[in-house]
Amino acid sequence: MLQGKKIVLGICGGIAAYKTVSLLRLLVKAGAEVQVVMTPAAKEFITPVTLSSLSRKPVVSEFFTANTGEWHSHVDLGLWADLMVIAPATASTIGKMANGIADNMLVTTYLSAREPVMIAPAMDFDMYLHPTTRRNLATLQADGVMMVEAEAGELASGLQGKGRMAEPEVIFDHILHFFNDSKELAGKKVLITAGPTHERLDPVRFIGNYSSGKMGYALAEEFASRGAEVTLVSGPVSISTSHAGIKRVDVGSALEMDAAARSAFADCDIAVFAAAVADYRPAMAADAKIKREGVETMDIRLVRNPDIAAGCGALKREGQVTVGFALETDDGVKAAKAKLRNKNLDMVVLNTLKDAGAGFACDTNKVTIISKNDAKSFPLKPKKEVASDIVNEILHCLPNE
Ligand code: PMT
Repeated sequence: MLQGKKIVLGICGGIAAYKTVSLLRLLVKAGAEVQVVMTPAAKEFITPVTLSSLSRKPVVSEFFTANTGEWHSHVDLGLWADLMVIAPATASTIGKMANGIADNMLVTTYLSAREPVMIAPAMDFDMYLHPTTRRNLATLQADGVMMVEAEAGELASGLQGKGRMAEPEVIFDHILHFFNDSKELAGKKVLITAGPTHERLDPVRFIGNYSSGKMGYALAEEFASRGAEVTLVSGPVSISTSHAGIKRVDVGSALEMDAAARSAFADCDIAVFAAAVADYRPAMAADAKIKREGVETMDIRLVRNPDIAAGCGALKREGQVTVGFALETDDGVKAAKAKLRNKNLDMVVLNTLKDAGAGFACDTNKVTIISKNDAKSFPLKPKKEVASDIVNEILHCLPNE
């Protein structure tokens, strides 16, 4: 699977370093040639002998080998590899990478790397959430560094929370995706909205809908697997995605989704609005839990939410492609065509709740893709395949370059 691929595997000083042994085994078994580069602190957690035995190459850690005076060229390593993976990436190394502090062989190699770089952060919960770490991670992502998100669970400190390095199999999967995914949408930026929005009534209640996010997430993964850089603006869902090409922005309400979508829209080539956005929100959200004692009926005054697809459609510039969904119960085609016009969309994906297995929550969908002069109906399929059909149709709308 990775025959002929050259990978620099950077290891920092964190307890998760022991898991990197399994990652190294997976890479070598898949045929990759791996050069391990360790920070000095990493050697406190795991011995270079283990890693050099598995990689069949001496581990590089210092600029010079003390007894022979041999110099290890970070520049040559940067030119040699097809991919650099840093796992675990500690808060300290992430900070140095984000700020260009090249005081060890690993960060120096990173700064010389011409190849793409992927990091798998690992640190304690509070360090992971610290504004400094968030800022440094955002800087690295803006610099194009791919990230395999840390996972939530029990941490070495005994605390529970996010910060655990992703499992070796998950990181390996990202590496396989990186090498094997098609690159037909490389350089394209895609915005996707997905999932429901929650409109707050009080601290314990909200108005929402049944969207699971599955359709939007399938689209995000399909675009990313074709090489696009995806911003996934997601309402509250219980599913996850781990593709390195997807930057997920979590939001709660329609107003939050609107702000996040607008900020990504200006810069994107394609936008797909798959979210089920609440059209209205309570005019007032109570600060304390609304009590029911003595209250037999209750009126809730609602005010309109912004239409995110229409708002972005109004700002659309030449060459941008926008795609909406229409979730209907009757008169689907007519309603979808009206949405195409009113929201200035290039395409509307119609799904109707009258079709069994289509629409909300299920793993399948049955869609008709409607554009100005065409309507194409597809049979019931898994959402992953529906996503592929939608992306194929979008490719026809992209301006020729
Ligand atoms: O998430 P799943 O469980 O997988 O379900 C998938 C889905 C049914 C949610 C999805 O396939 C779908 O149909 N999404 C759009 C649902 C919807 O809100 O449709 P609509 O007809 O009300 O809206 C039309 C379009 O305008 C949609 O692209 C919607 O995202 C957008 N919109 C609507 C209202 C609003 N305030 N802002 C919007 O951007």
